[in-house]
Amino acid sequence: MQILEDSFGRRFSYLRLSITDACNFSCQYCLPNGYCRTGAPAPLTPNETSNLVAAFAELGTWKVRLTGGEPTLRRDLLEIVDRVVTTPGVRRVALSTNGYRLRELARPLFDAGVRGLNTSVDSLDRAKFFEITGVDKLPDVLEGIDAAFDVGFEHVKVNAVLLAGLNDTELDRFSDWVRTRPITVRFIELMPTASNQDLFKRRHARADAIRARLLTQGWAPRMRSEGDGPAEEFTHPEYVGRIGIIAPYSKEFCKTCNRLRVTSQGALRLCLFAKGEVTLRDLLREPLQREELKARLIELLATKEVSHYLPEGKYGNTGTFSAIGG
Ligand code: 5AD
Ligand code: SF4
Repeated sequence: MQILEDSFGRRFSYLRLSITDACNFSCQYCLPNGYCRTGAPAPLTPNETSNLVAAFAELGTWKVRLTGGEPTLRRDLLEIVDRVVTTPGVRRVALSTNGYRLRELARPLFDAGVRGLNTSVDSLDRAKFFEITGVDKLPDVLEGIDAAFDVGFEHVKVNAVLLAGLNDTELDRFSDWVRTRPITVRFIELMPTASNQDLFKRRHARADAIRARLLTQGWAPRMRSEGDGPAEEFTHPEYVGRIGIIAPYSKEFCKTCNRLRVTSQGALRLCLFAKGEVTLRDLLREPLQREELKARLIELLATKEVSHYLPEGKYGNTGTFSAIGG
């Protein structure tokens, strides 16, 4: 079988598929002024999505994450989930959501076959959560996460983007929260985009301080296993949950890259910080185009660069993460 591998020996078994770039939150680091309809073409249809995922799966992709924007804004979300879950070769389907409707959606998503959930909770303080995201929805999101456990999800991953002076002192609060819950909270270092330059200067914080504190509090680095992404995770014998760090500026970050991204318009992004993207949409109309699509994917992968060159101050054309699925 042909597989997706780049010139540096990295294999790509994980696809992050954005299914809409619309969002109803306005996180400071992502959509500070909220989402504006762009007049761009409609996102991929369920049929186009099936054709896309089938080609990736034939090239060894077994994990697919649906992301956004906010994927639950798609009215046909459950149909899309069903198409992806039933694609031969796909073994795990996950969803990233801001969580605002998780309370109602947890059950239908689980029943449709979603097994991984990733939610963003930037602060456990209601006022700060509001300040960061622009919506007063912390209680809804937290109830949504508890609802997910009630319906059968075994584990939930939570992202918190580290913001100096806002949530960088909340480690103990987050640890308490995961003491009894199977949640991995990952602190993500703020990444620069074309639309968050000022915020980046004011609020960027390194995760080193968190790592140091975790180690003094008895947390131990978890052994990495095959297929793990760039998160560094810590466990503690007295805690059910875990704490993790995602530090895009660290040396190891790109070495463990195992993911490719496709935008809601069906364009491949080889890296979160790539300079451009290449459309695949012309090859998504029907299953007969599959071989041509696979050939294009293989050809494009050969051009994937070894690293994102962020320390050199390049961040490609990353306008906002809502457009490319984070
Ligand atoms: N830096 C780091 N993470 C970001 N996200 C969005 N924008 C950024 C950024 N500039 C991540 C957040 C959010 C997810 C959708 O994408 O973790 O939860
Ligand atoms: Fe929406 Fe996620 Fe961007 Fe926040 S980070 S505005 S929830 S897409």
